[in-house]
Amino acid sequence: MWGGRFSEATDAFVAEFTASVQFDQRFYKQDIAGSIAHATMLASVGVLTNQERDDIIAGLTAIKADIEAGRFEWRIDLEDVHMNIEARLTDRIGITGKKLHTGRSRNDQVATDIRLYLRDEIDELLGLLKKLQSGILSLAAKHTDTIMPGFTHLQTAQPVTFGHHLLAWFEMLVRDSERLIDCRKRVNRMPLGSAALAGTTYPINRAYTAELLGFEAVSENSLDAVSDRDFAIEFSSAASLIMMHLSRMSEELILWTSAQFKFVQIPDRFCTGSSIMPQKKNPDVPELVRGKSGRVFGDLMSLLTLMKGQPLAYNKDNQEDKEPLFDAVDTVRGCLLAFADMIPALQPNIPVMREAALRGFSTATDLADYLVKKGIAFRDAHEIVGKAVALGVREDKDLSELTLQQLQQFSDKITDDVFAVLTLEGSVSARDHIGGTAPAQVKAAIERAHQRIEQL
Ligand code: ARG
Repeated sequence: MWGGRFSEATDAFVAEFTASVQFDQRFYKQDIAGSIAHATMLASVGVLTNQERDDIIAGLTAIKADIEAGRFEWRIDLEDVHMNIEARLTDRIGITGKKLHTGRSRNDQVATDIRLYLRDEIDELLGLLKKLQSGILSLAAKHTDTIMPGFTHLQTAQPVTFGHHLLAWFEMLVRDSERLIDCRKRVNRMPLGSAALAGTTYPINRAYTAELLGFEAVSENSLDAVSDRDFAIEFSSAASLIMMHLSRMSEELILWTSAQFKFVQIPDRFCTGSSIMPQKKNPDVPELVRGKSGRVFGDLMSLLTLMKGQPLAYNKDNQEDKEPLFDAVDTVRGCLLAFADMIPALQPNIPVMREAALRGFSTATDLADYLVKKGIAFRDAHEIVGKAVALGVREDKDLSELTLQQLQQFSDKITDDVFAVLTLEGSVSARDHIGGTAPAQVKAAIERAHQRIEQL
């Protein structure tokens, strides 16, 4: 490939050690699309004849068909996807194949391939996120009135609706989509034309190549363009946040499916059993998703560390960008696929959730707010309710189960209307503002949410 300058062949181990074709063959489609666009542009400016362009395009098209039919032999000695395809092109069409690389380097070629690849993957992930978001909304719509305990410190705090809880998940995922959409803008810049590092002496028309490949703009600086991988870091960071969110949801599902919570059931098809304990049904999918978040965080760290010591411009280190990036893409894709299927199929146990919300004095804040509305300062109300709760603890009764007389020992402002406030329904429906847990608000939020994901 570069025989001209060398006086001995590359050591067999070194050839294998430096090769990337084992993993970068994943780029064959992008590599061929980039080459077709490059040849088309070269012909448009007179560097190739139209006949040469057509031969190159026909050859590359046939190679693509061979690869897809499993008829292409990838050769380690040809190092990477780029050299494999170019060498095969020359085998097929002869000397014209050797002209394809005019005005181009593998440095701008690989940077272009990664961006084309990642752009497609981002679009697929956005589709999966949307599917998951819609699944969450459809489950939430069925549970705008389903009451469960809301937690802080994992201790019962205040009642919330299950629909409201699900909408919290939805919001996390909307921000994740926004981040990917934003990242895609910076991915969608074309490095091609930067050549090895300084640009090229041919009269290239970069805007035309960019248009052919659907890039929004061309990169402004050739040194930066061949060495920049921060778009991949940015993607991995967005991917890490998606995984962090899926992991938090997983943690809740794992808790909720335990015999101690019993809030939801995950359908059997998403679970497995135990080889020894006959009773077991394990929440494998959420557990694996929680575990896999670590891989993606690791991919992000790999890429950051890969880049931090590199001087301009391209260095071979950059070949190490692919495996972490692919791993992040594959992992997030798999986890989103699993969640998009599983979440709408969750089966909440409505009576158990309600029962749990009745325990733990979840309406204590409502009683304090009630007293404030009757003219007591909040701090004093807090104190009064604290004493009422202490009585409840001693008697093993919820506040709503204490008698009016018992409650009145703590404040004479308490009258018969207090019991409406102490119910779970009274508590949730009183939080009736945008962002609150009242069923009416949750219904309105779901309506808006449908529109918001259409506008993403
Ligand atoms: N396989 C290389 C990579 O993944 C392609 C670019 C190689 N360029 C070079 N000058 N060695 O980065």
